[in-house]
Amino acid sequence: MVRVAVIGCGKIAERASLPNLVNYKEKAQVRVLCDIVESKAKSLRDKFELCGVDIIKDWKKAVTRRDIDVIFIDTPNYLHEEMTVAACNNKKHVLVEKPITIAVKAADNMIKAAKKNGVYLMVEQTQRFDAVHQAAKKVIDSGILGKIHNIRGRIGHAGPEYWSQGQAHWFYDKKKSGGGAMIDIGVHITDLIRWFAGKKITEVFATIRTIEKPVKVDDNATVLFKFEDGSKGEIECSWTTRPYEVLTFVYGSKGKMMTAIGTEKPVRVVIAKTKKGEDPNCTLEEMYPEIGPGAPWENAVHYFIDCVIKGQIPFVSGEEGRETMRVINAAYESNRLGKWVKVK
Ligand SMILES: NC(=O)c1ccc[n+]([C@@H]2O[C@H](COP(=O)([O-])OP(=O)(O)OC[C@H]3O[C@@H](n4cnc5c(N)ncnc54)[C@H](O)[C@@H]3O)[C@@H](O)[C@H]2O)c1
Repeated sequence: MVRVAVIGCGKIAERASLPNLVNYKEKAQVRVLCDIVESKAKSLRDKFELCGVDIIKDWKKAVTRRDIDVIFIDTPNYLHEEMTVAACNNKKHVLVEKPITIAVKAADNMIKAAKKNGVYLMVEQTQRFDAVHQAAKKVIDSGILGKIHNIRGRIGHAGPEYWSQGQAHWFYDKKKSGGGAMIDIGVHITDLIRWFAGKKITEVFATIRTIEKPVKVDDNATVLFKFEDGSKGEIECSWTTRPYEVLTFVYGSKGKMMTAIGTEKPVRVVIAKTKKGEDPNCTLEEMYPEIGPGAPWENAVHYFIDCVIKGQIPFVSGEEGRETMRVINAAYESNRLGKWVKVK
């Protein structure tokens, strides 16, 4: 049985961590709920009927608890580094919410702390756990699309004010969030495209703007990518899209694939079955791969608990989170400079 403390009892704890810990009670037991606002922890304790849990206000007391194996870090982005490092130094495995943190150097510190203490650090990059994207990744890895030349993705929703009913003002405070839509959801689609491509993004050109919302951070971004092998990519992320969407387009030498969350056949693969000299536009074979079970947050939480039990390194490691963060930082720099920027 994995014994868990959840630090941060806001929306992601309520919608992702706690329901999927509670429905995995044969493997995970929530022992501590921690929030600087005690009433929020108490309210989730009552909602999920966790009568035996301890409510703690000071996160430093939560990470030192001897009867805890795993810490879920569900706090605003700027707190991820300090909390993760302290948790690792107290020999706890950590599932930290996306983005890993707001600076590459901070991510380095988190990775170092996990390594030094022999504990697992996983970043909760939800899109990789969506069964639609897992089916799509299998298609790409099967080689059926041929060599991937171009890969694009878009994620959009109406903005954090609808997610947290106007309560989470930190999303609009750059010091606490690291930026706007580009870091908040750009991190989802950038990470997904990186994972699909399986190759390094080496350069970016970004246009990052505040188009609609009366906030001091960005609400829309477009980023062009160059991959290490010369192929191309592109992402868009938006806080002004209604309703929510996640779309990807993957173009290979033999065919193409489109994914669209929320549609009836969310992964469409089209292969050009062309003999040499024939027109590849006309000879098509369409496929709609089967989508596996589980909702994305459920898959992510259960996967991490299973990793801890099995002693298996999570595939969305701190290093993966840091690589995605490098691209996000380069995108902000490119936007500032108005030119292509190398991913450092
Ligand atoms: N994976 C996803 O799909 C997804 C979706 C939304 C948010 N997130 C991420 O989850 C994290 C939290 O976002 P949220 O929407 O739940 O925000 P939120 O504001 O709803 O919740 C954050 C909670 O942390 C608490 N907190 C703040 N400072 C604290 C401290 N010092 N000690 C203890 N608790 C403290 C707040 O009181 C609040 O209850 C962010 O990193 C965000 O990017 C991920």
